[in-house]
Amino acid sequence: MQDAATAAPPPAAAPPAAPPATAPAAHRAAPVRDALFEPSTLGPTGRPLPDLPLPPLPERHGPARIIAMCNQKGGVGKTTTTISLGAALAEIGRRVLLVDFDPQGSLSVGLGFNPHSIEATIYDLLMRRGTTIDEVICKTNVDGMDLLPSNIDLSAAEVQLVTEVAREQSLARVLRPALADYDVILIDCQPSLGLLTINALTASDGVIVPLECEYFALRGVALLTETIDKVTERLNPRLRVDGLLGTMYDGRTLHGREVLKTLVDGWGDTVFHTVIRRTVKFSDSTVAGEPITSYAPGSAGAEAYRQLAREVLVRCSAG
Ligand SMILES: Nc1ncnc2c1ncn2[C@@H]1O[C@H](COP(=O)(O)OP(=O)(O)O)[C@@H](O)[C@H]1O
Ligand SMILES: [Mg+2]
Repeated sequence: MQDAATAAPPPAAAPPAAPPATAPAAHRAAPVRDALFEPSTLGPTGRPLPDLPLPPLPERHGPARIIAMCNQKGGVGKTTTTISLGAALAEIGRRVLLVDFDPQGSLSVGLGFNPHSIEATIYDLLMRRGTTIDEVICKTNVDGMDLLPSNIDLSAAEVQLVTEVAREQSLARVLRPALADYDVILIDCQPSLGLLTINALTASDGVIVPLECEYFALRGVALLTETIDKVTERLNPRLRVDGLLGTMYDGRTLHGREVLKTLVDGWGDTVFHTVIRRTVKFSDSTVAGEPITSYAPGSAGAEAYRQLAREVLVRCSAG
């Protein structure tokens, strides 16, 4: 191992020419069990906010549930969600492994690593036979949360993998030895639907789709769903959509509220009740190389990701 979101007034009519945002029934996440709901106030998604209890500590660790953070659009909060959700899960006793699967290495940088001085990266694990996962895993400053780092080398892997046998299963193969040691493995995908992302989806049990609460953000969802469908049919039948996550939400604007409504109209309970509001604290925490849960532990952003962690655990145990 190396060292190392208020009740909104009803929105006006939907924007013109609403993009397709309907989910095939097979991909809808199981609704959170009613018993866990104490409907109180309406949440930002227009549905009653569930009361999500703090889950008990796990009696033992593993086998890990693998979740890909996926959206082919950049700048929607994939990396921020991977770091913050991972740290929030670690806070409640889960053993978490974050996988930086973007050659830009933003996840590694966001956790305070210099991508150029990392000795071994996920590239070595994928492409150099004999590299073990223990040689590549880095400890982060968050207790219980480790990282498989990456840097620009990974872009070469995308080219080299094309000629490999079972090229879509490469990530699944190298993660297998770590499954028993972790409760959750979060894969931060690159902003494309290329071979690296197909590898992430093939390795995963679930997908979380972060979506910026902007009208144009909805347009790519249909294409992403099509890709997820293909992976499910051809490569990985256990894959399902764990949830769509609204990010960078500004409840003061009608626009933001309309986007959330369109999302819930199309996808129903697949949309997480938790919505991440827009705040500069996220950029500040990236500069500090720390998750928001430790950089600004009492902030609304940290609280939102703690709520998301509980919602994810409830959904996964219900499914
Ligand atoms: N809820 C939020 N509010 C404000 N800024 C955010 C929020 N989430 C992420 N950001 C910022 O937006 C930028 C893009 O986020 P990032 O997580 O890197 O997106 P992606 O990985 O999808 O490209 C980063 O500078 C990040 O700090
Ligand atoms: Mg990113």
